Amino acid sequence: AASDPDLVERARRAREALGDRAFVLGHHYQRDEVIQFADVTGDSFKLAKDAAARPEAEFIVFCGVHFMAESADILTGDHQQVVLPDLAAGCSMADMARPLQVDDAWTRLGDAGVAESTVPITYMNSSADIKAFCGRHGGAVCTSSNARQALDWAFEHGEKVLFLPDQHLGRNTAVLQLGLSLDDCLVVDPHKPDFGVTDDELRAARVLLWKGHCSVHGRFSLESVADVRERIPDVNVLVHPECKNEVVTSADHVGSTEYIIKTLAEAPAGSAWAIGTELNLVKRLANEHPDKTVVFLDKTVCFCSTMNRIDLPHLVWALENLAEGRVVNRIEVDDDTEHWARVALDRMLALPG
Ligand code: 13P
Ligand code: SF4
Repeated sequence: AASDPDLVERARRAREALGDRAFVLGHHYQRDEVIQFADVTGDSFKLAKDAAARPEAEFIVFCGVHFMAESADILTGDHQQVVLPDLAAGCSMADMARPLQVDDAWTRLGDAGVAESTVPITYMNSSADIKAFCGRHGGAVCTSSNARQALDWAFEHGEKVLFLPDQHLGRNTAVLQLGLSLDDCLVVDPHKPDFGVTDDELRAARVLLWKGHCSVHGRFSLESVADVRERIPDVNVLVHPECKNEVVTSADHVGSTEYIIKTLAEAPAGSAWAIGTELNLVKRLANEHPDKTVVFLDKTVCFCSTMNRIDLPHLVWALENLAEGRVVNRIEVDDDTEHWARVALDRMLALPG
């Protein structure tokens, strides 16, 4: 639906009043009505770098989800204030790894004698506490754009990796990019006694996968791929690595949101694409490439509900308050967590490529 013209005008006026004092970041999964006001758009890796590159902006307005705003706060200066237009914009995947659970899992690894040889790597899609855990224990952060480099780095520093919180990105990277086997991977389930693993299994595994997943990407299935191939015989299936291993294996291409955008931009006119990622992005890609057939991989999978919490009314509310001198919905990570999370983020930012 078209945005309310009155709200668009209010957002435009507040944005203009703020000028260079504000910098608005928009994740690719945001609604069109929000993306139109983003100074930059990107995947979580690009936005983390972009946030750090604007030291003159007093306010970083983060149109994305909570863990991204936390990362922006960690990577920007103390004089900069990060604002999340709706505090309810969390991430179900990030919520699947809680600090106490991860501490307990580390103790479990210690009991099996493997903690010392394990390097924890957390996906960007995790709370600042989990990033800080990785910083404290010699680990790093990764995103879907650099998970391979992060795992390579981890195996230079240890014999095993504990990958948090997305089992699918961890498994897909280990198997498809590092050439490990599915048997080298072991799921660590925080809801089972002893995390559902024996000491022997922990000792034998190379990659310990935290049992978390994305509630959007985790829903694409082998049937989604088979159905679209039947409907559109020459279709190219392009999916995000947060999808299940069987989906990624049956697809033609796999990559982060930036990769998906680039692949579509370079695709020849007349080609057909079924995209397995968040719906706002797929709809935008379909509009931007009228010369290509661009369809959503599965009609039953829907928007990321928490990404969609950031809508035009919330953005207007945040911008107008900032323009009138009131800082609302500030996201601020405490100093100790910030220090250790920054250690883990800096290790990621130093990765090659
Ligand atoms: P990227 O931005 O790293 O592609 O991750 C996708 C995602 O699920 C963000 O919430
Ligand atoms: Fe979290 Fe998935 Fe939504 Fe990204 S798309 S914010 S990983 S639930």
